[in-house]
Amino acid sequence: MLISTSFLSSKNLIQDLKKLDQTDTDFIHMDIMDGKFVRNKTMPFKEMRNIYKYTSKRLDVHLMVQNPERYILDYASLNTEYIVIHLELDIDIEKSLKLIKRCGIQCGLAVRPDTEIKELLPYLPLLDIILVMSVEPGAGGQAFLRETENKIKELKVLLREYHSHAKISVDGGITDLTKSYCSECDILVSGSYIINGNDFQTQIDSLR
Ligand code: DX5
Ligand code: ZN
Repeated sequence: MLISTSFLSSKNLIQDLKKLDQTDTDFIHMDIMDGKFVRNKTMPFKEMRNIYKYTSKRLDVHLMVQNPERYILDYASLNTEYIVIHLELDIDIEKSLKLIKRCGIQCGLAVRPDTEIKELLPYLPLLDIILVMSVEPGAGGQAFLRETENKIKELKVLLREYHSHAKISVDGGITDLTKSYCSECDILVSGSYIINGNDFQTQIDSLR
């Protein structure tokens, strides 16, 4: 199982990023919020990009923003593996996904807990990754929603049926207990469970 660590709940960002760099986490999950698509707001790109000083890990960027085109070129310029935008946006989704691809970055769509999996269908051929939200987006430290288990199963069937090789990632409330509901995923995104633990590597080991 691949692990992507979210630093959204970190109270000492520099120290935690340096510590995470010493672990075998596969990615650093960057939660970007604009105060519109979700209520919270993260720091602007000119501050966010400084994280390259403290981590050599590949980045997994989760854009919780209303207008992703404003952010894609900036985040594509970092050490980025994936950029994920939300399916629920009232924008030309395909155009944004193609922009991510043109930057040479793998692209994905995130689905909120109440968004139906079948809404992904029109975009499947373009997708490298699908991020299933197991909490409402916008904050770390929330409890895993149990209905996510069936959603992941439904997605797995859909991917098989349409011969898609998109990876499945799950984000929100992931712990050593809730991971058992996500065994069909490729990537677990975990924030507070790792960051609030005494030893980051021990927490990561318990999720693999
Ligand atoms: C929620 C974010 C998640 C979150 C994960 O809006 O997208 O990435 O930070 O944090 P935990 O693991 O604490 O739910
Ligand atoms: Zn996230």
